Amino acid sequence: MNPDSTWDEMAASGIVAGVRSIFLDRTGSTNDDALALFAGEEPAPLLVVAEAQSRGRGRMGRSWFSSPGLGLCFTLLLTPDLAPEQVSLTSLAAGVACAGAIRQTCGIDIGLKWPNDLIAGDRKLGGILCETAPLKPGDAVTVAVGVGINVNTDILLMDPEIRGRAISLAELAGRKVERGPLLYALVESIISEVRELADTGTAPLIEKWRKRDWIKGRKLTWMTADGREIIGIASGISHDGFLMLRDRDGTTMPVISGDIKLLDW
Ligand code: BTN
Repeated sequence: MNPDSTWDEMAASGIVAGVRSIFLDRTGSTNDDALALFAGEEPAPLLVVAEAQSRGRGRMGRSWFSSPGLGLCFTLLLTPDLAPEQVSLTSLAAGVACAGAIRQTCGIDIGLKWPNDLIAGDRKLGGILCETAPLKPGDAVTVAVGVGINVNTDILLMDPEIRGRAISLAELAGRKVERGPLLYALVESIISEVRELADTGTAPLIEKWRKRDWIKGRKLTWMTADGREIIGIASGISHDGFLMLRDRDGTTMPVISGDIKLLDW
């Protein structure tokens, strides 16, 4: 990490951790911007950072609250050399990478809620939304890794229904957190974790993710894609990155698609 990397210097140079970067005051969604730039022939890697998003989104159509000057909203566009079955693991790799960067810059250990939430003190600190660009013939897959983190965010400004379950890094650290070095470390760490996934395979990533698994042992409902609700206990993630759910009959199954809802959170 470069501890001297300030926000203003990186914005002025247009480079963060060696990656060409665009800093915006306001946009719809940095994921949309990155994917549109890629469709318009801008090559990856590319970083799009925004202070405010009017259509910031998370998984399952949820919205993401942005906090200009205080939070962190960015999308890192990467073309990793991943096998097709590894592409969906980019989200888990980004989670492990964010945890590492936060540990490195703030000294705070966070948990991961499958598949894409960053958790601290049993509250949501951030989220990750990975989306793949439409495949161009003969090309490798390009992934937009969207990250939102409550850094110095004023949680009281959030919608009442999410406020009770949200937390910021500043609240955890008991001080204001510099966003520049954090952004630098996050970008560097995501690139390195996704590269390791491509180079060494899935096993080391799954092992690291399991050490930060925050929902293992918790009771949850799985709303399946075909509209069923299955109640069970999270029993960890499989070797290929699926959340495993043990239902009331003791049957263990992978959560393949749909949404999960924790019953005690
Ligand atoms: C989630 O909590 O489900 C994921 C939230 C991801 C939010 C980030 S903010 C930057 C990027 N742009 C978006 O529109 N979403 C992601």
